[in-house]
Amino acid sequence: MRKVTIVYASDYGNTEKMAQSVADGVDSVESVSSHLVQAEEVTADDLTSSDGVIIGSPVHMGSVDWRVKKFIDTVCSGLWMQNKLNGKVAGVFVSGGGFGSAGGGCEIAMLSILNNIAELGMLIVPLPKNSPSYKSGGLHWGPYGRSADENMENVGVSDEALAVAKVHGANIARATLAVSGNIIFLE
Ligand SMILES: Cc1cc2nc3c(=O)[nH]c(=O)nc-3n(C[C@H](O)[C@H](O)[C@H](O)COP(=O)(O)O)c2cc1C
Repeated sequence: MRKVTIVYASDYGNTEKMAQSVADGVDSVESVSSHLVQAEEVTADDLTSSDGVIIGSPVHMGSVDWRVKKFIDTVCSGLWMQNKLNGKVAGVFVSGGGFGSAGGGCEIAMLSILNNIAELGMLIVPLPKNSPSYKSGGLHWGPYGRSADENMENVGVSDEALAVAKVHGANIARATLAVSGNIIFLE
């Protein structure tokens, strides 16, 4: 059995809903199981015992949530020193308000986390543009869920965005099956 850990932070439940959909996608692939854990609770063992890691963040002030960044700067950075995450499969997802239609920061938040994932030696799984519901919640970096309407009311992430999140989870689970156990980088 392969294990994919999904690490996320969430204040109002939107990123958490996406995390659950990503987990459903992981669990839809035979021989892979998901492990959901909040950024403030994840341990080094959670990561080293995983074949894949997926990181989800709300967009805060145009970029990554501080709890997700703290997890990267504490739990992940210790493992970076020991090269412990090299070759594990990884991906990202985010939820932003999209306030006033434009919003801002989904892509920067994703790229910020992906930059860390690359630094950690992990293998990034993108989101192909022909994925179902892509136009309602996909960027090639991963799924995003917009939670506010044009009047800045929180209406929650759409079913389409949740569907894209599920596809991303399944893609990452399949990538994990293909990669895990095969040495990619020198030990
Ligand atoms: C402190 C704070 C800053 C935020 N900044 C942004 C932002 O820069 N861009 C954006 O689109 N949404 C922004 N939002 C809205 C959240 O990203 C959005 O509501 C998201 O869906 C929240 O996810 P959650 O329900 O998992 O907490 C912000 C929310 C908070 C609380």
